[in-house]
Amino acid sequence: MANSRSIPMVDLKAQYARIKPEVDAAMERVVSTTAFVRGADCELFEREFAEWCGARAAVGVANGTDALTLALRAYGIGPGDEVVTVANTFIATGEAILLNGATPVFVDVAADSFTLDPARLEAAITPRTRLVIPVHLYGHPCDMDAINEIACRHGLPVLEDAAQAHGAAIGNRRAGTLGHAACFSFYPGKNLGAYGDAGAVVSNDEAFVAKVRQVANHGGGADKYDNVVLGTNSRLDTLQAAILRVKLAQLELWNRERAERAAAYGAALDGIPGLTVPRVRPGTTSAWHLYTIRVADRDGLHRHLAERGIASAIHYPRPIHLQPAMGAARGSVGDLPVSEQLSHEVLSLPLYPELPMAELERICAEVRAYCAAGVRS
Ligand SMILES: Cc1ncc(COP(=O)(O)O)c(C=O)c1O
Repeated sequence: MANSRSIPMVDLKAQYARIKPEVDAAMERVVSTTAFVRGADCELFEREFAEWCGARAAVGVANGTDALTLALRAYGIGPGDEVVTVANTFIATGEAILLNGATPVFVDVAADSFTLDPARLEAAITPRTRLVIPVHLYGHPCDMDAINEIACRHGLPVLEDAAQAHGAAIGNRRAGTLGHAACFSFYPGKNLGAYGDAGAVVSNDEAFVAKVRQVANHGGGADKYDNVVLGTNSRLDTLQAAILRVKLAQLELWNRERAERAAAYGAALDGIPGLTVPRVRPGTTSAWHLYTIRVADRDGLHRHLAERGIASAIHYPRPIHLQPAMGAARGSVGDLPVSEQLSHEVLSLPLYPELPMAELERICAEVRAYCAAGVRS
């Protein structure tokens, strides 16, 4: 392998090389106007991103965690309230609930989709439930029709955690329009990533988006020093908005390139004994944020690839109901068997629009070689 380049999980330098003139010009424009906070690009990006999702409104915030935290604030969720979500997710989903003083109630995921199992949702709803947060993990859209139907029957809004799902769709409806509102992260490695932290809340409910905007900007009223509700400072800054506008123009192409690579992985890896490739439900589009396989000897394969200069990653090694940070909401081993099993078996392989097909083939050859040699400890 001496001549082979090591293969990273993502390659943001390769991405920058494709858009350098546009990104450099956008940054120069912001710096030369010095409108670093609430500059023109912020409002333009919000409008363009809402439109891209097919939604009426969007508000840019500082990061995806704040998008969730402030959305819950805008729903008026607080102590005594319960929010139903999954544990097979990044910690931020749970943090947003606890930071508002509410209690997360975790339901298990479906093994074939990695996402909230609608068959388990109803049993988790109590008179204290105020909200349901499904997570479009890895970019795969949740079974939103079933989730919405149950939530609607109980009078509950559904907030999409779409941090990994820019462009995920059911039919022609994109994430951002699949529930009452949706939260996005623009962390650099996301399908749409800033050059730092950034996030957004998107909804067809313009009044709701206005509420999030208010709490994200010091609870502002008529002017800067009219602070009508308790808020915070969680604004999207202008440099990030300008960069995100450049990248948004490429997102459709980049998502197609991800899908091509996901299809190539599927063609090469499907059918290997002991390995399960991700499947997309018919009628849905994955954003393919991650290409995550299941394999019994996950840690062995992870090591095998690392020894050959191939990155891979575990999303996630511990379901969040087992994280000490969840405090009193922390559960026990055995509470969520599917999520717990997945945490031992999932492995994400490199996936990004610029991943050369020859490198993808080398990854697949190594996965095949490892699996053919049988399970090792
Ligand atoms: C599912 C999920 N929710 C929320 C977040 C939080 O986003 P951020 O890192 O921008 O705060 C992330 C980001 O990694 C995520 O993957």
